[in-house]
Amino acid sequence: MSSIKPEPVVDADTSSPLRGPVPVTKPFMPPFEEFIEVMRGVWDRGWVTNNGPLVAEFEKALEERFGIQGPVFVANGTLALHLAIRALDLKGEIITTAFTHPVTTISIIWEGCTPVFVDIDPETFNIDPARIEERITPRTSAILATHVYGVPCDVEAIQAIADRHGLKVIYDGAHAFGTTYKGRNILNWGDISTTSFHATKIFQTVEGGSLHTKDPVLLEKLRRMRQMGQWGESFELMGINAKNSEFHAAMGIANLPHYEEIMARRKTQWAHYARVLDGLPVQLIRVDDSDGYNHSYFPVVFRDQLSMMSVREALDAIDIHPRRYFSPATTELPYVQLDGTCPTAENLASRVLCLPMYHELQEGVPDEVAGVIADVLSS
Ligand SMILES: Cc1ncc(COP(=O)(O)O)c(C=O)c1O
Repeated sequence: MSSIKPEPVVDADTSSPLRGPVPVTKPFMPPFEEFIEVMRGVWDRGWVTNNGPLVAEFEKALEERFGIQGPVFVANGTLALHLAIRALDLKGEIITTAFTHPVTTISIIWEGCTPVFVDIDPETFNIDPARIEERITPRTSAILATHVYGVPCDVEAIQAIADRHGLKVIYDGAHAFGTTYKGRNILNWGDISTTSFHATKIFQTVEGGSLHTKDPVLLEKLRRMRQMGQWGESFELMGINAKNSEFHAAMGIANLPHYEEIMARRKTQWAHYARVLDGLPVQLIRVDDSDGYNHSYFPVVFRDQLSMMSVREALDAIDIHPRRYFSPATTELPYVQLDGTCPTAENLASRVLCLPMYHELQEGVPDEVAGVIADVLSS
């Protein structure tokens, strides 16, 4: 989910005079004065990067406030995945999901491993644990699963499989900040969990990501790896520059007091969409624990690709811009070319649209969207 710019306005003349263009997402911005207040210290200290005090403060706040073990704040969620694979020293095959952002797959290939795709559950859109064991071979070293749209994977089933076969588990929790599973922060599962604080995410630091693990040795290794392996004057470890800056940490710190408000608004918007779409011939994602869900995305699945494209076109025409998250399925990526091997994911990728959701979304937009969907599907 890379772009935070609205898609081009298709026909500005037909958009409602009461609202401007509606992109799929927009970052929540803290009040400017609050951000400047946090930034003042950066100017005073002249310490702008290299694990400064705001990075330490942000990590501590994440740990204490959200009960997330060992956050290692890094430059983005992509590097977090690369560091996770490297730090666990994974080799050979990594079992992964056919329905996620391409970068989950890319991180596996870029780190010299082979992705082995497993199809998804048709209701939660997450990797289907019942299909994992048939893909395990003597070369399998790990399972890398994504909590797609912030809905938790079946973490208990996945852990049981990993334990039976001696595999490591990494969770790509880029969408899942704020989600809990059975009351416990979802980022505490697996050997390592990652998340993203990119501007498109529910809680943002402009660019940013973090890694979480309960293993203190691994935690120390990740901290060293994010700064090129340098530790004092020691260079024993190979690392990469994955540090994040004081400016990015400042955005996180300035956003923290607004966390509850962000989550509450998102939950209300999610419920609003669900209410106005009720009765229409579309499929919504299954969320078992609404209280523990971060409501970060609102995917809608249409009966076929033609309906999805017609709805998208009609919404674009009135300056409302949903996005095809995720299309293609990862099996269909040009550098993978395993089309046809995960039909549930591939079929979903051809029919799904994520509807606009962000803090300042105008209240009437869900009704407008539902009206367009109803019109298009009945014509
Ligand atoms: C599932 C998933 N994983 C990883 C990432 C990468 O995060 P970042 O943009 O912070 O690099 C994204 C980005 O949108 C994502 O959607």
